[in-house]
Amino acid sequence: MAAMSEDDRDTVGVLGATGYVGHAAVTELRERGYAVTPAAGSEHDEFPSIDVRDRTAVRSFVDDVDALVNAAGLVGIDACDENPDAALEINGFGAATVAWACARADVPLVSLSTVATIGASDPETGPITAATDREPATTYGRTKLLGERAVRTVTDGRVPSITYSVTNVYGRHEPGATSGNSVLDFFLERAADGEPLPVHRPGTQEFDFVHVRDVAAAIARAVESITTERHEPTAWSYVLGRGRTYSVLEVAGLVADGYRRVTGSPLGIELRDPPSSDDPITDRFEVDPEPLRAALGVDPTRDVEDWIETELRRRLEEGSTIEEGGRTDRHGESTSDEMV
Ligand SMILES: NC(=O)c1ccc[n+]([C@@H]2O[C@H](COP(=O)([O-])OP(=O)(O)OC[C@H]3O[C@@H](n4cnc5c(N)ncnc54)[C@H](OP(=O)(O)O)[C@@H]3O)[C@@H](O)[C@H]2O)c1
Repeated sequence: MAAMSEDDRDTVGVLGATGYVGHAAVTELRERGYAVTPAAGSEHDEFPSIDVRDRTAVRSFVDDVDALVNAAGLVGIDACDENPDAALEINGFGAATVAWACARADVPLVSLSTVATIGASDPETGPITAATDREPATTYGRTKLLGERAVRTVTDGRVPSITYSVTNVYGRHEPGATSGNSVLDFFLERAADGEPLPVHRPGTQEFDFVHVRDVAAAIARAVESITTERHEPTAWSYVLGRGRTYSVLEVAGLVADGYRRVTGSPLGIELRDPPSSDDPITDRFEVDPEPLRAALGVDPTRDVEDWIETELRRRLEEGSTIEEGGRTDRHGESTSDEMV
């Protein structure tokens, strides 16, 4: 492991630091006093670029840090379907390359995955935990599962690692920052523009939402744990979510109610036919936050309903930037079309 920096702060490398989650993690880690070395995936003015497919570059990056956060990925169902080879190389092999470099340099690793690795869950088996059977239904889920398993295989017995399978991330880590691609963010932006909220029938599909600041705090807590408490070379895995699900219709109702409270005017909800009946639909998707709370004291507390009103007020003041026809799939799990 690299020597401690001169002022005795641990140096944390963050891959994918230009991303939605990675950027929030950099901010949070700095707020907690870490020296952070961020890296982008592609050319950026702000950060150097470290491609997780480049084993030599990853190794030399890892050699200079005390702990590593891998927030790099090809993220989203559409993005991975459009480029499955890149998804395999970045989410699967890239995660393995990063874990291998960490094990080789004895650098503890915090790695990000997704509940898309689980696929359609069986409600009879109870809320989802890291031990739930994985049956991913998408290229995104399959390649992330490959990465998750590689991290476990490579690090277990060699170096401490913590992997989070995260639910649907929403919100902004600070005003003006990039927002998520969750259906919640999508409805919020529609509402900020005074546009009706489109819901694909039947609207019963459920999501667990976790605020991006809670995700960043959980990452920082994992870094703290593997650098100061958990020195045994074990691979730990947890599901990171709020433990509360909302159906799409419920989310639309909450946003429309928030809009009425803030503006005094009603906001319509439009039920539409789904674009394809072949899409896998999981009605129930409940996660169990207790194992993570018990192990690390991580407790995502931000509340969707409080956030809707506060954020709506803020966005109405700022002016909204929604694009006609929905959002792009630049940041996040899914486009609005997939989610709604
Ligand atoms: N957003 C969510 O709702 C959500 C939910 C569950 C799990 N997650 C997980 O959280 C992690 C981060 O997701 P995100 O939403 O922050 O994604 P994002 O906004 O799309 O950011 C992805 C990051 O990965 C970088 N990257 C892409 N290809 C790379 C490569 N070949 N080598 C190195 N870096 C590369 C990107 O760099 P450039 O910008 O420079 O190209 C960017 O910094 C992923 O593991 C994702 O599976 C996210």
